[in-house]
Amino acid sequence: MDFTQNKQFWQNAVNTRHSCRSYKDLAVDDDTMQKLKTFAYSIPLPFEHEYELRFFKSDGRPVANNLRKPPPDCLAFLSETDLVSIGKTGFAGELFILYATGLNINTCWFGHYILREVERLMPHLGEYANAPAGMYGYSKGETEGVRVICITPLGYWEEKGLRLMDRMSSNMMSFKRKPLNELMENYTDVSKLPDEIIYALDFARKAPSAANSQQWRFSVADNAKTITIAKPKGYKHIKWEHSDMDVGICACHFWLGLKVQGISCTVEPVLDADRVLWKFSL
Ligand SMILES: Cc1cc2nc3c(=O)[nH]c(=O)nc-3n(C[C@H](O)[C@H](O)[C@H](O)COP(=O)(O)O)c2cc1C
Repeated sequence: MDFTQNKQFWQNAVNTRHSCRSYKDLAVDDDTMQKLKTFAYSIPLPFEHEYELRFFKSDGRPVANNLRKPPPDCLAFLSETDLVSIGKTGFAGELFILYATGLNINTCWFGHYILREVERLMPHLGEYANAPAGMYGYSKGETEGVRVICITPLGYWEEKGLRLMDRMSSNMMSFKRKPLNELMENYTDVSKLPDEIIYALDFARKAPSAANSQQWRFSVADNAKTITIAKPKGYKHIKWEHSDMDVGICACHFWLGLKVQGISCTVEPVLDADRVLWKFSL
């Protein structure tokens, strides 16, 4: 994948992606599905990671609390559940989500999927299969083995079916993002940063996060050659226990913002106390 040559594709995807919770009862067309599968099985990541994006079919019954009528096609993001794995799965998953957006496919990250339903449609829990009814997501914290961290529907927006949650999020949450200066740990005068870093940070701040909490913070050092992204130490969301996944998603946007400008860097996600710290060295 040549990101520089496809700058417009990725820029449009970052700027137009939004969460969609009402879908037409329509499978993804064959040509697009083939492209999605090819991409999903060969995502170009700047680090090693064991994970899986698994396509599955819904039968139209609810698979998440805000997804009463899923479209026929869905996808699960699976990996181990330690903080670094979750962060890396967020990174890989978001690259897939943006690629799908570029192909005019609607998506929505769902962390609060109905575990029993996902297991029924896509058996994956093996010896842990006795999921209690009413359980959303795989667990509150780190657990043994590979799990579905999140799912997404893949389909076409049903405008007429716009449910309250979609309406609320498009009015209150979608596209509402904190300005860059509120997200900086240093460099409060953002305008003094090099243009290419501002461009990539702008991609990063537009990333989606559970409940739109945007708990990522940016730090720039070494003459703008080292950039770190992490949530504040000790941060916990009252309802979403995997905020390091959101930070991985944000790190993906930042990396993409550099890649489309032809800027190479090394990317190191490391465990730093109770969080994952993403270090980018240009
Ligand atoms: C990791 C993650 C988990 C999410 N889980 C849910 C969920 O369980 N239910 C839901 O309705 N939305 C979920 N969302 C969607 C967010 O609410 C949405 O991304 C955020 O409000 C920003 O809106 P936008 O995606 O339209 O820009 C999740 C988003 C992320 C990134």
